[in-house]
Amino acid sequence: MESAAEPDLPEFAKTLIHSRRNISPRRLIAPGPSAQQLQDILGAAAAAPDHGQLLPWRFVIVPGTQRQRLAEVFCLALQDRDPQATAAQIEGAREKAHRAPFLMLVIARLTQQPVPSGAAPGRGAQHPQATQAEVNDAERLVSLGCAIQNVLLSAHAAGFGTGLTSGQALASVRLRALFDLRDNEQPVCCINIGSVAKNKPSPLRPQLTDYVSELS
Ligand SMILES: Cc1cc2nc3c(=O)[nH]c(=O)nc-3n(C[C@H](O)[C@H](O)[C@H](O)COP(=O)(O)O)c2cc1C
Repeated sequence: MESAAEPDLPEFAKTLIHSRRNISPRRLIAPGPSAQQLQDILGAAAAAPDHGQLLPWRFVIVPGTQRQRLAEVFCLALQDRDPQATAAQIEGAREKAHRAPFLMLVIARLTQQPVPSGAAPGRGAQHPQATQAEVNDAERLVSLGCAIQNVLLSAHAAGFGTGLTSGQALASVRLRALFDLRDNEQPVCCINIGSVAKNKPSPLRPQLTDYVSELS
């Protein structure tokens, strides 16, 4: 009996990684991922590198029933920043909460106290069980970025488009209150997922020489 051909993993990974595009939530339409697909897509985040297994990030899904509350926060945050905002701008801010079929907030769980200066460099790397203080915010944000990319690529592999959104409203006290954020938590961006209404060409990518050098 003939065995099935081995999948060409390097080629698959290359195609998946290089064909992902940031899709504006305006272009993300129904259907979004099913509950089962979401399990797989969000489960991919758990495979992100996580020094010390601190889980320095979390996600909060905003279901359709709660989008109105997020819309209100976007709208009021804009008015706090700019009391002269026009009706069209306010409506635009409100509408951002309603665009993609799936939307969730990505939250970084950061240190509250910086690592004391003079601490032995690289100590965390030598200890698999790094403590909270040894894993600084840069490392935590790297883990968060990897978790995001795992989600984006998994959703892309499942045939969905994804888009990241941020903006000044994420820094507002109103948003912190809505998501009940702790002092050490920082909202970083939203992940939007849906079917792609209209694709877009790949952006210009940097060349290897733009970001790789060799120590000499
Ligand atoms: C943390 C983060 C926040 C982002 N926020 C926005 C945003 O608010 N609006 C937007 O159009 N793109 C946003 N992006 C997406 C970038 O603009 C996009 O990744 C970049 O243009 C490169 O395009 P590509 O993802 O298709 O390679 C964000 C990306 C990151 C990493």
